[in-house]
Amino acid sequence: MPKEFSSVGWIKARGRIHPNSLGRLLWFAGHMTQADNATPHQAAAYDKGVRQTIPFYEEIHRQTIDVVKTVRPDVECWLDTGCGTGYLVELALPVFPKTQFVLGDPSEAMLKQAMKRLKDVPQERIKFLQPIPSEGLLSCAGEIAPQVITSILCHHYSQPEQRRQAIQCCHQMLGGGGILVTFENVAPSTSRGTEIGLSRWKRYQLERGRELSAVEEHLGRFNTKFFPLRVEEHLDLLKEVGFQVVELLWFSQMQAGFYAIK
Ligand SMILES: C[S@@+](CC[C@H](N)C(=O)[O-])C[C@H]1O[C@@H](n2cnc3c(N)ncnc32)[C@H](O)[C@@H]1O
Repeated sequence: MPKEFSSVGWIKARGRIHPNSLGRLLWFAGHMTQADNATPHQAAAYDKGVRQTIPFYEEIHRQTIDVVKTVRPDVECWLDTGCGTGYLVELALPVFPKTQFVLGDPSEAMLKQAMKRLKDVPQERIKFLQPIPSEGLLSCAGEIAPQVITSILCHHYSQPEQRRQAIQCCHQMLGGGGILVTFENVAPSTSRGTEIGLSRWKRYQLERGRELSAVEEHLGRFNTKFFPLRVEEHLDLLKEVGFQVVELLWFSQMQAGFYAIK
């Protein structure tokens, strides 16, 4: 940030806006927009931004639905934690016509977008939790008893202990035979693999029209704003919290999906 914009006092002290400061003010406003969720995209711009950022974004959701269709076609209650703008639930609603979907997310702005997306869905089919992270879900244990929990690309923002708590809560919320499907950004096993992965990720985003500065900012979030585990670490964590069946579901570039049955 330019030095003179480091405090609002600068503008007040001069009593008027400096003639050549309009551009800087716009720059300032643009850069000071408060993030309304943990992703690099504002909630209202998320649906477009995420498709320019995450390779195979839609495939990830198709795989999630497909595995649930096989393991729990009878699901009565499906909790989507970290639901974002509600895309997964929108896709799953017609596939599971008897299921009630519960949507949770810590970001109020994301929940609002999800409500907007699902506004025409009959009330008995969906329920929104108050803003809540996965690690707080046990406070809803009396309210909902899901047989399926999905957490798609939403726990990689957390530090290890918080992430363990999130997975533990998902395990505790499920009854026997319940399934957790989770996708995350993942870390390659070697530093060369990380370089290659990040370079491919950069090209993916640039080819889809993201600005170089936005792409660089996004890649700078690796291990600073999101903290990817390796595939084996995910498998170990799911086993450690007590899931009986733990499997890699899907893996490509720097995203992977897992399912775990209690
Ligand atoms: C990349 S978006 C994924 C949204 C959605 N699942 C999807 O597939 O589009 C990440 C979401 O995780 C939410 N989130 C961040 N920390 C979380 C946590 N500890 N527990 C649950 N959700 C979290 C964010 O608010 C955001 O909506």
